[in-house]
Amino acid sequence: MNTNKTTVLVVDNDRTTREQLEQEIARGMYNVQTTSEGRTAIEIIRRSEVGIILVDINLPDINGIEFIRKVKEIAPGCELIVIIGTAPYSGWAGGGNIDLAIEALRSGAIDYIEKPINMDRFHTVMGRAQEKLQEATEQLIQTAKLSALGELTAGVAHELNQPLNGIKIICQSIIKDIQKNRYSTEELQTDLADIVEQVDKMAAIIDHMRIFTRRSEGMNTELIDINTVVEGTFKLLNQQLKDNGITVTKNLAPDLPQVKGDIIRLEQVCINLIINAKNAMTKGANAGKDLKITTYQTNNCDLPSCNGTIVVEIEDNGTGIPESIIDKIFQPFFTTNEHGKGTGLGLSVSKKIINEHGGKISVQSDVGRATIFKLTLPIADK
Ligand SMILES: Nc1ncnc2c1ncn2[C@@H]1O[C@H](COP(=O)(O)OP(=O)(O)OP(=O)(O)O)[C@@H](O)[C@H]1O
Ligand SMILES: [Mg+2]
Repeated sequence: MNTNKTTVLVVDNDRTTREQLEQEIARGMYNVQTTSEGRTAIEIIRRSEVGIILVDINLPDINGIEFIRKVKEIAPGCELIVIIGTAPYSGWAGGGNIDLAIEALRSGAIDYIEKPINMDRFHTVMGRAQEKLQEATEQLIQTAKLSALGELTAGVAHELNQPLNGIKIICQSIIKDIQKNRYSTEELQTDLADIVEQVDKMAAIIDHMRIFTRRSEGMNTELIDINTVVEGTFKLLNQQLKDNGITVTKNLAPDLPQVKGDIIRLEQVCINLIINAKNAMTKGANAGKDLKITTYQTNNCDLPSCNGTIVVEIEDNGTGIPESIIDKIFQPFFTTNEHGKGTGLGLSVSKKIINEHGGKISVQSDVGRATIFKLTLPIADK
């Protein structure tokens, strides 16, 4: 299955409809799954990341409206399209159909199609669902970004404080020298050049912050050196890691082939992972706090289309992740942080972003010793 594609689930008791929709959907940029039962559908939705659901409102085992409500509860990001049947369920003169459609829309479905299915109408409705799904993803990414921003602010404030202090010291010495009447134009020039250098440093940090927080409209695809992404991350986090007594070891392979993607989104993933590592090390009882970032290339590759892969590993020696929760950490809103700290979106958004890049994110944890998050990204076509 291609992790890069949206998964569409068709739930319909009628085999012909299922097969007809499955064929049509598989032709587009989708993975497709089908089932005849509402209960099985709920299981599939719980287990895997389904984006769009087409569901017959007259399922044999679950009331269609209840089904919609249940889906909205367990997978609020899913878009539902309802299939409205004809006789014997629809009542006479089609009145029942319309009532059901309205109720389905009220319960959270975004649109409906009628049987027999008109393919033009079907494609319009699917297009709309895909658009809404994309909008929701953008919103989620932005929300997580703003949440990470809270963590970043302290570090950035520190980072800006350094050049500010530098400027202050230079200015104070200029004032003193002027008071003593011993100030030459050459000296003034050197000092002003120093000030400009400090201001440039600050501008670069602010620029980076501004680009990072800008709301994007969809994913950029440019050729990227993954090491640039890692270094960019540290522009915003260096000081904060230092303040927390964390030793950073970077092992970045030189001259890596490029990957294709969105530099800001990939940076967002690295920031999420490093902030998580920092939090785990601050909580953990280990004497030394060691953060290791490694990048390398491998040729063995289990990604769908692949010229080899680039791997980024982020390792910490914090608390570790107990087995009882390791399956849940990528779920949206799952957090072990105390109330008010952390939304629990960091890892779920990171996974979405890596999926969008055709890559994979995985984790290995040895409680009390080490946790390694591993990002695998396909090398771009030449
Ligand atoms: N490096 C790590 N070490 C130990 N536990 C981790 C690590 N990374 C993630 N976790 C666990 O996974 C949970 C989910 O992480 P996620 O980044 O999605 O949310 P969060 O950090 O709790 O909140 P947010 O990222 O929204 O601020 C964390 O609450 C924590 O329990
Ligand atoms: Mg987090």
